[in-house]
Amino acid sequence: MNTYSAPAKVILFGEHAVVYGEPAIAAPFNTLQAQVIATPAPPDSGLSIISPASSLRLHVTLANDTADNALIYAAQLVLKALTKPPPDLTLELHSNIPIGGGFGSGAAVSAALMRALSAALGEPLDGEALNALVYQVEKLHHGTPSGIDNTVIVYNQPVYFVRGTAPQRFQVGTPLTFLVADSGVSASTRETVSDVRRLYTRDQAHYSAIIGEIGNLTRAARTLIESGESLTELGELMNTNHSLLRALTVSSAHLDRLCAAARRQGAYGAKLSGGGRGGSLIALIEPDLAQSISAAMRDAGAAQTWLMRLE
Ligand code: MEV
Repeated sequence: MNTYSAPAKVILFGEHAVVYGEPAIAAPFNTLQAQVIATPAPPDSGLSIISPASSLRLHVTLANDTADNALIYAAQLVLKALTKPPPDLTLELHSNIPIGGGFGSGAAVSAALMRALSAALGEPLDGEALNALVYQVEKLHHGTPSGIDNTVIVYNQPVYFVRGTAPQRFQVGTPLTFLVADSGVSASTRETVSDVRRLYTRDQAHYSAIIGEIGNLTRAARTLIESGESLTELGELMNTNHSLLRALTVSSAHLDRLCAAARRQGAYGAKLSGGGRGGSLIALIEPDLAQSISAAMRDAGAAQTWLMRLE
């Protein structure tokens, strides 16, 4: 019996704009994890994927068509990449990552499952191969993903990411403390990404200006994070990023309220994180304000909050 895992992710700046070629900054969030336990199964029992939490039991065969179930599809991608038949194996899923929470739950589960299966087949996938396969599953989940979620989750490192280019590491001048919150509302990234695409197609001049502003702000945020100079300015950039995401129609009254509550209680800045309209949000804070800001966000309706340090 072996256990394989992958973390959740948090986008600090640049979501949605990253789909259009602008940069984004993201970090793994290891408090939330997907885990897969691989156990040999009796001869001829084949490959099963089970999830005790949801009473799910799936049987994986090497079908030729694309599976509409993302877990079966993820397993099939590994079998095809390694040209192996399904082994006699049980893959048991565990995850404390909220689904539809903007934390990259789908990519984390895929990454942990593919790690487990490739290792059981005696050919553990390296980062690059795993990243490419998880991206294929992301396409099933999200339609036109930029690739940022799978990249930050597979490499388990903070990244400055531009679609189609190698992810870049960046320095953190002064350790940053974030309060990460689950808004309690689950939302579909596929839907928000395709809604933004529809708006963009309808009025390209207007929406590409907003997307360009998000790009500029993300570049400025990287400089500030690296210099460690001004948390106040970094927080302001988060607030502006949130407003621009609202202009892309991916915020919600609930997310706006949660961000406002964090700011009122002394956060440097707050913004939604990920696909939006629900899901998660982040606030940049002084560590000694964590309790009071967390309480304010919960009073405003957040389901859960966690601390995240970036250094
Ligand atoms: C989702 O975590 C981030 C988005 O920018 C979509 C993507 O980059 O694929 C909204």
